This record gives sequence, C-alpha cells and structure tokens, in this order.
Amino acid sequence: MTPGDLGRTAALVPAAGRGERLGPGAPKALRPLGGIPMLVHAVRALAASRVVDLVVVAAPEDDVEAVASMLADQEFSAEVVVVTGGPTRQDSVARALLGLPDDIDVVLVHDAARPLVPAEVVGSVVSAVRSGHPAVVPGLPVVDTIKQVDAACDVERTVDRESLRAIQTPQGFDRAVLQRAHAAADLDAVATDDAGLVERLGTRVHVVPGHEEAFKVTTPLDVVIAEAILARRRAAGAV
Ligand code: C5P
Repeated sequence: MTPGDLGRTAALVPAAGRGERLGPGAPKALRPLGGIPMLVHAVRALAASRVVDLVVVAAPEDDVEAVASMLADQEFSAEVVVVTGGPTRQDSVARALLGLPDDIDVVLVHDAARPLVPAEVVGSVVSAVRSGHPAVVPGLPVVDTIKQVDAACDVERTVDRESLRAIQTPQGFDRAVLQRAHAAADLDAVATDDAGLVERLGTRVHVVPGHEEAFKVTTPLDVVIAEAILARRRAAGAV
C-alpha cells in the first residue's frame, strides 16, 4: 500500500469460539456484558472509530442465523455482514476474508472477545497501515516477569521483559499482505494471531500502543473487570 491510497477499510471479527475457559454456557461472543452481547459491544467499538466501513463477523456454525438477526436489530455506523466461522480462529478469519469487496484495501482483524477496545486504538492501527506499515498490532509492555519452563516445569531461562509486548487486537494489514499470509498458512501450525502468519512471510510487523481496556475477556474474572469498566463508562455518560 502507498500512503494516500483511498480504498475502504473492513474489520473481520472472529466470533466463533466456544469460550470454554469462561465456563459452560452460550458461545463466548453471545454472552452478555452489562446486558448486551459481547459481540455487539465489539462491533459498536469498531463502528464508533469512524474508520471502519464494513464489519464481517465469523459466527459459530450453529448460531449464524441468530447472530445475523441479533446484529440486524442494532444500528451501527458501518455495514455488517455475518459468515460461518470455522474450527479454529485462523480458519474463522480465513473464511471472513473470502468475498471481501474489491475496494477494501485495509483489513483489520479484531477478536469479538475484546469488546471494550477504545476507538483511539482502532484509529491508530488504521492510520499506521495507511501511512505505509504493511502490518500493525497494538501492544502493551509486559508487567510480570516471564520465565520459560521445560516439560517438568523447571525454569529454563528468564526472558528480558523490556523487549516484550503483550499483543492485542485489532491488528491491521494491507489487504494483499493478509491474503498472502493466509494463503501460505500451514494448517498444522495454527497461529494464535494474524500477525504471526504475516511474520512467517518475512514481512515486518509494527507495534503501536495498545490499551488496557482492549484486554481479552477469557476467564470469569475478566467478566467482572469488563462489567466494572462498562459501569464506569455509563456513569461518565460515555455509552
Ligand atoms: O480462543 P481465543 O481466545 O484465541 O479466541 C479469540 C477469538 O477468536 C474469539 O473472539 C473467538 O470467538 C474467536 N474464535 C473463532 N473461531 C474459533 C475459535 C475462536 O472465531 N474456532
């Protein structure tokens, strides 16, 4: 991509995970936070950035129609379409990539499980891609000391924390780069994020500042934290 290109931006939202670490219940993306499904928060957050034109949601196979009608009941300032997700996150993203309109030149990938991402993070990822970085991820410094352990749980080494970043989403890409990365993806070595696939191509991935409210809702404690953030935003009149 050359700075100044004027295509549109799409956000792919993998939302087909079961959310087993959250405990039994509906697929994670459909579980409520402050009475509203996590996925609706995530789509609202992307649309609120005003830099996303189209949102493509990869829904759990058994819930595609329910997700489509749930989203059709909402008003978003971006077009929203729903496709069937796959057995892995990588597969869900690959399916959402198929059939994007030709005029999309920047593609974000954003976990439905990061429902509270602030609009500024979405904006800064898109700006960095449009200014010429082929792949951009938001990241935060790591606060814990990280140790690598062997199979017996004995420490092999302590990793230098200063050079580590905990990576979030949305991750942003020049569309052609993301498509090449998925086309070359090894189905036996599934990546936990899309930038990981791009790195395997040898393409440089740039990190911009993330935000602590862009955390991934994974465990029951994360739900408590997310509810508290929503309550604070509501009290401040921000939602
Ligand atoms: O499992 P993990 O926490 O990595 O999931 C991250 C995101 O990927 C979640 O939003 C989840 O719904 C999505 N996902 C998916 N398809 C799968 C597994 C996970 O869309 N098969």
